[in-house]
Amino acid sequence: MLAFNQCGKRLMTRMNASTLPQRSCLAIVLAAGEGTRMRSSTPKVLHAIGGRTLIAHVLSAATEAGGADIAVVVGPGRDDVAAAAHKLAPQAQVFEQTERLGTAHAVLAARKAIEAGADDILVMFADTPLVRPETLAQLRQALADGAAVAVLGFTPKDPSGYGRLVMDGKQLAAIVEEKDATPDQRRIGFVNGGLMALSGRHALALLDKIGNANAKSEYYLTDAVAVARDRGLIAVAIETAEDDVRGINTKAQLAETEGVLQNRLRAQAMEAGVTLVAPETVFLSSDTKLGRDVTIEPNVVFGPGVTVEDGATIRSFSHLEGAHVGRGARIGPFARLRPGAKLGTDVHIGNFVEVKASTIEDGAKANHLAYIGDARVGEGANIGAGTITCNYDGVDKHKTDIGKGAFIGTNSSLVAPVSIGDGAYIGSGSVVTKDVPGDALMFERAEPVTKPGWAARFRAAKAARKKKS
Ligand code: UD1
Ligand code: MG
Repeated sequence: MLAFNQCGKRLMTRMNASTLPQRSCLAIVLAAGEGTRMRSSTPKVLHAIGGRTLIAHVLSAATEAGGADIAVVVGPGRDDVAAAAHKLAPQAQVFEQTERLGTAHAVLAARKAIEAGADDILVMFADTPLVRPETLAQLRQALADGAAVAVLGFTPKDPSGYGRLVMDGKQLAAIVEEKDATPDQRRIGFVNGGLMALSGRHALALLDKIGNANAKSEYYLTDAVAVARDRGLIAVAIETAEDDVRGINTKAQLAETEGVLQNRLRAQAMEAGVTLVAPETVFLSSDTKLGRDVTIEPNVVFGPGVTVEDGATIRSFSHLEGAHVGRGARIGPFARLRPGAKLGTDVHIGNFVEVKASTIEDGAKANHLAYIGDARVGEGANIGAGTITCNYDGVDKHKTDIGKGAFIGTNSSLVAPVSIGDGAYIGSGSVVTKDVPGDALMFERAEPVTKPGWAARFRAAKAARKKKS
């Protein structure tokens, strides 16, 4: 969270040095969605895009937009969502909406948090993950400029299903839900994105005034607009891109939203100086950090927690997760870096090499077909093809330590716990079960047996037998 807060501060100062930082902000995140159309045993908001859950995206945007206080409204018994929210934003208060009676009712589940008296209240949906902090800041700015209610509007190709924004000059007069709209109102193309900002000073008075006399007998948050206008307060609509308010109800929408997010992440990476040879084939996580002059070849997947330093190359068909790649390193093609892989400067990890929970120091190489798990590989060491660290005895994991400049011959099995000293040399095909001192040669193999002419005699005997039968 510290990172979120720091990031938030930086962003806010850039976006608006004048008014916003002085205003306190509570973000109320509605996460009481049913999510039945996902056809999943995982709650909707715990599905992930860009390697991060939907609710994590929303909490991160809320914090970056200055939402220092956070309230999350969950459905009955949704301890899993509550736990996830706490983990992501330890300061968040979690409230339960016991009955699903509408968006205004859901917001009022967080009444206690609203009563604390923040200047700005942002109402966000946990299933709408792509809203950008700068868009939320625009909503807050509208409040700072005097509005009591500010909503996000957009103009979709097909407005059906959305609340229509009824304008009155520059002001917003009302939001009319599809089911309650007159035929004329249904022809309005400018619709409600769902998220909105309420002035903290007026929020409770407005919300408490909202009734449920409508087609769905729900307490509509959207009615806050008409209530505010009745009291002579100002309501405005801020136009935004459809992607900002893209909500997710199905697996197909989850995939579409992932696509939009990936395009954003790829564009950001290229903007920061990363070369993506075929951007559409590279999959990034929201927290992927790529340095300058990093080259990513086609078909590479970044799971969460990856940092790649300047000048490194990630070649095709590699999969990285929880890994750090040092300056100028060369990874792949077909490499797999698993959590805890820490690679130094100019390390080479080649095809069909898997690295897990291991430190590979500067200039070390494992170019082909190897498994390095729970190990340290010293500076400049060379790991031959087919080398395996046998780190698991079926119950426990053990460590392998390989010294600086060591040479591990091909097809060696290093049975952990074991250590190989600096500059030691392991002959091909060895099974190393005991520590090897520095600069020693260790090999383990049976005496070779060579029988001259044996193969020719064998084939002749076989051929003769076949002819007889
Ligand atoms: C809402 C808006 C509509 C807007 C649309 C944009 C209202 C009344 N309508 O409609 O104007 O065009 O979003 O997508 O707000 N929720 C709860 N508890 C409830 C009801 C809803 O937590 O009792 C949460 C849902 O999980 C969801 C969000 O609030 O995250 C929006 O609810 P939803 O039912 O999707 O509202 P829409 O009908 O889509
Ligand atoms: Mg909806």
